[in-house]
Amino acid sequence: MTTALIVLAAGRGSRMKSDRPKVLHELGGVPLFAHALAAGRALGAERTLLVVGHGGDMVGRAARDLDPEVIVVEQAEQRGTAHAVRQARKALTGFEGDAVVLYGDTPFVRPQTLQAMREARARHDVVVLGFEPADPGRYGRLVMAGERLERIVEYRDATEAERAITLCNSGIVMADAELLFSLAAAVGNDNASGEYYLTDIVELAGRRGLSAGVVRCEEAETLGINTRAELAAAEAAFQARARAQALENGVTLLAPETVFFALDTVLGRDVVVEPNVVFGPGVTVETGARIRAFSHLEGCHVGAGAIVGPYARLRPGAELSNDVRIGNFVEIKNAQIGDGAKVNHLSYIGDAEIGAGTNIGAGTVTCNYDGVMKHRTVIGRRAFIGSDTMLVAPVTVGDEAMTASGSVITQDVPDGSLALGRARQVNKPGFARRLFERLKAARARRGREQQDREQ
Ligand code: UD1
Ligand code: MG
Repeated sequence: MTTALIVLAAGRGSRMKSDRPKVLHELGGVPLFAHALAAGRALGAERTLLVVGHGGDMVGRAARDLDPEVIVVEQAEQRGTAHAVRQARKALTGFEGDAVVLYGDTPFVRPQTLQAMREARARHDVVVLGFEPADPGRYGRLVMAGERLERIVEYRDATEAERAITLCNSGIVMADAELLFSLAAAVGNDNASGEYYLTDIVELAGRRGLSAGVVRCEEAETLGINTRAELAAAEAAFQARARAQALENGVTLLAPETVFFALDTVLGRDVVVEPNVVFGPGVTVETGARIRAFSHLEGCHVGAGAIVGPYARLRPGAELSNDVRIGNFVEIKNAQIGDGAKVNHLSYIGDAEIGAGTNIGAGTVTCNYDGVMKHRTVIGRRAFIGSDTMLVAPVTVGDEAMTASGSVITQDVPDGSLALGRARQVNKPGFARRLFERLKAARARRGREQQDREQ
């Protein structure tokens, strides 16, 4: 079944008390709306539309950064959920298949639930996702007639008897795309809010002799984010789930409650994660690697058997091959580190390529930035970079080459060569002892002068 995803994200989200649109606030290291996109991707949606309004430019840009295939459509004025869906019609001209409507601020819908809705489409023309919350509050109510959904009534428009219904509307709907647009176009705004309610399509479908049905899910899945407190609670729920999933997948977490994941974190089997590790977006760690305590990783790939940290920082573009060692207070950015290479202490490696088996001594820095442009450092295989080497890029160090400790390397080093780039050492016999004596005498003199002044 071909499916298009329509994610509604035009609302202001005023209760966030933010200058940023609500759906750009982050959950699991990615903007809120990205969670709805991911659920749709898991369903295999062929086309994804994002309806934006408040801060539309910003949201649109973020969406295209995340996934260039997302079609962003604008709803200039927010006149209700049916009005929002109508904006997607043009972009889906000629599309044949189902459309599913999700909300950008509702991140926890499971792909399995969407799959169940798809299956229910065999029995109904319109399928609505319903749930029974602990407190039905102001949710729209689902008015059932046996197994059929008769209509949805918004809380503001509901009678007392309707408000007593406990089955509520999540807002998620699935129907044939052409039908959805045709029904949404027929919706009026004669209601308590003067808005075009998408919920009205159920009754309209009934009048056309079509059937609507309900798939139920847990309340936790339909949780929408409206305030910072709800965002914080959602983050906690997201992390709890991600940790449980990692353990389930065969990852060891020594202190699960101190490890933080992003939506797209991928950890292989037998990966060990020590306490206090943060995974930003875009991290993959292969089988058997160990991420030691207090490390921060984002946009990077860690090969099998590698050891990272403690206190390491892997930034976007860090590519560690198998069995690499990255030690304490080391930062790696946009750099490929070959099999078994070691960068163990106090180093910055950025815009670089390091060959297999090479050892980078403590305190080494790739000086990649000249204040205007970035330059690359290339180091060959089985090379030895002495401690405190400054590699002034662009520069190349060959295979099995060495640099002397404390060198400032500004010229390429051929294969097998030793590069010395530092001042020659001079020893002055007896100098130190004489200097110490002179300094101690000076200190004693100053002490006596001080005493004289105080008397
Ligand atoms: C909606 C449902 C209600 C349901 C509830 C579940 C309608 C009429 N009501 O109510 O039955 O119980 O969700 O949370 O659909 N949006 C737009 N453009 C608009 C209006 C809304 O993009 O013009 C987006 C919002 O950004 C939000 C979503 O649609 O992501 C839902 O809108 P919201 O105003 O929260 O609807 P509710 O009143 O909560
Ligand atoms: Mg709402």
